[in-house]
Formats: sequence, structure tokens, C-alpha cells
Amino acid sequence: MCGIVGYLGNKDAYAVLIKGLHRLEYRGYDSAGVAMLSAKGELNVYKSKGKVADLESFARSKDISGTIGIAHTRWATHGEPNEVNAHPHYSPSGNLALIHNGIIENYSVIRAELESRGYEFRSSTDTEVIVYLIEYIMKSNRTDLCTAVQLALRQVVGAYAIAVISRDNPDRIIAARKSSPLVVGIGEDEFFLASDATPIIEYTDKVVYLNDGEIAVISRGEDLKVVNLDNVEITPEIKKLAMNISQLEKGGYPHFMLKEIFEQPRTILNCIRGRINVEGTNVALSGVIDNREKFLNARRIVIVACGTSWHAALIGEHLIEDFCRIPVEVEYASEFRYRNPVIYPDDIVIAISQSGETADTLAAVELAKSEGAFIYGICNAVGSSIPRTTDSGSYIHVGPEIGVASTKAFTGQVTVLSMLALTIAHQRGNISEEKFIQLVRELQAIPDKIKEVLKRSEEVKELSRIFTYAHNFIYLGRGYNYPAALEGALKLKEISYIHAEGYPAAEMKHGPIALIDAEMPVVVIATSDSIYEKTISNIQEIKARQGRVIAIVTEGDKAVRGIADYCIEVPQVAEPFTPIVASIPLQLLAYYIAVNKGRDVDRPRNLAKSVTVE
Ligand code: AGP
Ligand code: GLU
Repeated sequence: MCGIVGYLGNKDAYAVLIKGLHRLEYRGYDSAGVAMLSAKGELNVYKSKGKVADLESFARSKDISGTIGIAHTRWATHGEPNEVNAHPHYSPSGNLALIHNGIIENYSVIRAELESRGYEFRSSTDTEVIVYLIEYIMKSNRTDLCTAVQLALRQVVGAYAIAVISRDNPDRIIAARKSSPLVVGIGEDEFFLASDATPIIEYTDKVVYLNDGEIAVISRGEDLKVVNLDNVEITPEIKKLAMNISQLEKGGYPHFMLKEIFEQPRTILNCIRGRINVEGTNVALSGVIDNREKFLNARRIVIVACGTSWHAALIGEHLIEDFCRIPVEVEYASEFRYRNPVIYPDDIVIAISQSGETADTLAAVELAKSEGAFIYGICNAVGSSIPRTTDSGSYIHVGPEIGVASTKAFTGQVTVLSMLALTIAHQRGNISEEKFIQLVRELQAIPDKIKEVLKRSEEVKELSRIFTYAHNFIYLGRGYNYPAALEGALKLKEISYIHAEGYPAAEMKHGPIALIDAEMPVVVIATSDSIYEKTISNIQEIKARQGRVIAIVTEGDKAVRGIADYCIEVPQVAEPFTPIVASIPLQLLAYYIAVNKGRDVDRPRNLAKSVTVE
């Protein structure tokens, strides 16, 4: 994880770096640091435990001059989050400073080797070995910095995005990547470097996404040079950014998460725009149409993802099997990649990822690719690693998601999966024209339905007060809404730190029912669908044991209202799309409970937005 920023130009580097770190703080926030080459030619490194604001307080009285620098916000993998382990790390002589995102798997071997040569390490990170190794190579082989970086990275096993600066060369940043993202922004006589484009957007829209194995040589007064580890020069592909700055700000909301929840009518509209026609008679995902034969002949679809994206995948399984009659398997990417799975060349593997950088999902994609499967990506971050690795795919187009707890990306993913299932079913002739048009129109109406749900946010806020001090929660749902229950529970856990379990409602009687007592809040998604009656029986079972039921019901519902303790209504939608509307009150409930508890909603403890380590 972690966020990397770099700057070389004519501006004060510190201001650019700190602003960039704030933008990237969602990626990690246990400690932060900057390294700058000062006007006096010194290489100053300032680090502090905690958030970027703590670093700012610490650096207030220091020399923060200089027009070149690198900065880092950390999500510790090796060594506790303290000042010593924070990045940047100095080389033994203090001539170099380096930042790193990722994990060096063979760091202990390299460290032991360097220790046997008399080097003493200061931190317990895996990162420090890289900068030590680079300096060792520079000295022993008498090479320049770039060559030393190339030689060092050949010895390194693992994932990295690194940036390094040197006191001896105040006009150069060397950066490299393998499996961790890195973007170079190209301005007028200035360069930016970052883990994603958000710190760059206000300065330039020209960016180069580095590929694995590439090294960027950023030099004052020269064009960007990209080489590989063998020093072969590669022509950088300059792309134009489509993001705008207002998408990165809170727009009057107290938290990004609340802003992102309320954005959903618009983000779903953006997601379906250009894919569903205005008349609501057709939906076509170009990624599917362009690869029609693959989808027509698919023997099976395997979906790989993690966390919230995995929950969206479970809904995708329902949608695709229901509409297209193609067997679907959903896998945790982290399990899939290590369990020698059977993959057929006529399988389609769909990878779902908001960030497009999740290491486990990326590795699952590589594995499926090596077995010859056709890979389809469903991602949000444009230009990120997964969309660049897959054969085809669809962006969800919900804009940058900053809150660590995923909300609008989840509903965007489910919307794309709905369009994907409808497109395939239509192409394969699995669905009647009448049913197809009816479902397309239902999907088209979802943004307005979400607006209706959001009007009830005050109700959910009131309800949150009653349950703020609960120690446990159970979330139940059936069919399409079982994954929505899992997602509701995950949201609560992530941001309020209240233990919550999601279950298929009928599975409760096989064990979890033992947990039910008068203290246990049970959130049940009980919208009027094909298994409504069965869900009502499950609610009765909870009430018979004094559980406190909060039910998500369809507008006008009477039966559940008669037995549940509290009800939140959502508008009637076609059953396959109920998880989209039912998720909204669950997002709000988690949000308000977390706020009542005084939690750091946008940056919950121990988490990071983009999990680029396995
Ligand atoms: C969501 O609220 C989580 N923070 C997390 O589970 C996330 O969904 C997971 O890490 C996968 O991320 P991705 O979609 O970027 O691949
Ligand atoms: N593995 C490194 C560390 O623990 C980098 C972690 C990160 O990507 O933030 O310091």
C-alpha cells in the first residue's frame, strides 16, 4: 500500500509533496515522511509517526526549502509504524534517500549479506535494504545512481514502487516499479511522481503510467527518459488525464464516505451512460460486444476479487447464472492464486477491483492469463494495473473513491455486472426481448430509486443512535440480497469496529441462532422478492428469541412491519437489482454509527484503500 509522491521543478517541493500526501493518505496513514534537497545542498529527511498532519507539525520549524523531493505515507508491512521505520530511508552515508511501496520478499537475505560486510541497519523495514544495496553497488562497482538501481532491482524479489534522490545529483529522481503503481506527471519544466494521478491532476493532465520493470529517469531540463532493468530505452506513452479536481474534494460533506454515498444517483447514471440507450431498449457493454465470440462460447465464468469487490462478484454470480445460464464461480483472489485452480482456455475470468491495484487480484489475473483464459476487468481507477493487464473490460466510471470503506464503487460494480449479464444474455438469446427491455428500463430507473432511499437518511441517522453501543450485529439476506448482507456487515466492521457477521438468512438456524438474545441487533434485508415469505419466517425465528430486528423492506410493506422492531423502506425494484438499493441504508447505518462513536470514518484504523501487498 502506501502513497508515494515526488516533485522536481521550480516550485517549492515541500508544498507540492505535502498536498500530494494528503491526497494519497487513503492508501496508508500510520506514518509519513519527506526528503528534500535544500537550497544549501543538504539532503533533509523529516519523518513522523501518525498522519500527514503530524508530519506537517513536526516539519514546521525545519528547513523545508528545495525544488526537488520525495515523500511517503506508510502502511507498515515490516516493522511497527514509528518514526524510524517511516520512509524515506537514508543510505548508510546519508547521500541517498529512498521511498518504497510494496514488499521485498528476500530482504532478510540481502540484509544478512550487507551486515556481513559491516553495514548496520537503522530500521526494521524490508525497504531499507534497497537503499543500502544501491549505495553498496554504487561504491563497489563505481556506477552512477541509475545503473546501481538497475543492478539492485535485479537482486530484489517482491513488489515495489520506489523513488530515490541523491545529494550528489540535485537535479534527478530515479523511480521504478514492479507490481506497485507509479505515475509520472509531465508539466512545463517540472515533473511529478505519484502512486496515482490524484496528486498530479491540478498541475498537469499529461501522465505516463510506468509498466512493470520500467525505470523513470527524471532530470531537470530534460525530457522524461524511461529504461528497463537492462538499460534498453522505452518510448513513454503520454496519456491525458480525464479526472477533475472537484472530484477529489469533500464538497461540503463532513466525510468523503458520506459524499460518496450521496453521489450514488449520479455515479450510477455515469456508469450506465452510453451503455443503456436513452429509450431504455438496449444495453451494450462494448467490452462484451467486441469479444462476442468469447462470451458466446464461454464454458464457465470465474470471478476473482477481494473484500467489497468479492461481494459484488457474488451478486454477479446470481445475475449471470440467472440471465445467461452460464455456470459461474466466485473466488477470493488470494485463495485462487495459491490453490492450483483448474482453468480452461475457454473460461472467462472476470477480475473486479475498485483500485485496479489489489495485489492478490492482480496475481490471480496473471495466473489465469498464464493458463490461457480470457480476462475481463471491472475496475474504477482508470489506467491502473488490472485494466492494463486484462484482455478487455469495463470501467465503472464512478469517479475517485477516497473513503476507505467502499460505497459508490460497490454499487457501480453491481451495475456493470448487471449490464454485463444483460448484454451476454441478449447476445446468447437466453432472454426474451420483452424481459430484456423490462430489465433494462428497471436498471435505467435505479438512480432515481437511490434518490428516494437517500431521502430517508435522517431516519437511518435516528436509528443509528439506538444501536451505537451494540457490541455485535448480525446481517441476514437471501438470494440476491445475501451478498448485500455480507457487504452491510463489512461496512459496519470496517468503520465502527463493531463485530458484525453476514449470513444467508436460512443458514442462521444451523449455528448463529445461538447468538440471538435481547442484546443482539439483527439487520434483515426482507424486500418483497421471490423468497419474501421464507425471509419472514427467519425473522419470526429471531423474534421468538428476543433478537432486535432492523428490517430493510419494500415501500408499503405490512407483513414485516408487523413483526420487526424497526423498518427502513426502499422503493420497489426488479429483484436482481434489489442489492443496489438495499445497500444504501446499510452504508448509511454503518456511517452514522461510526460517526456517533467518533471514529475516523474515512481512514479507519489498520486499513488502507489500495492493498498492493499480498
Ligand atoms: C472495502 O470497503 C474495503 N476497504 C476492501 O474490502 C476492498 O474492497 C478490497 O480491499 C478490494 O479492493 P479493490 O476493489 O480495490 O480491489
Ligand atoms: N514494506 C514497506 C514497509 O513496511 C513499505 C510498506 C508500504 O508500502 O507502505 O515499510
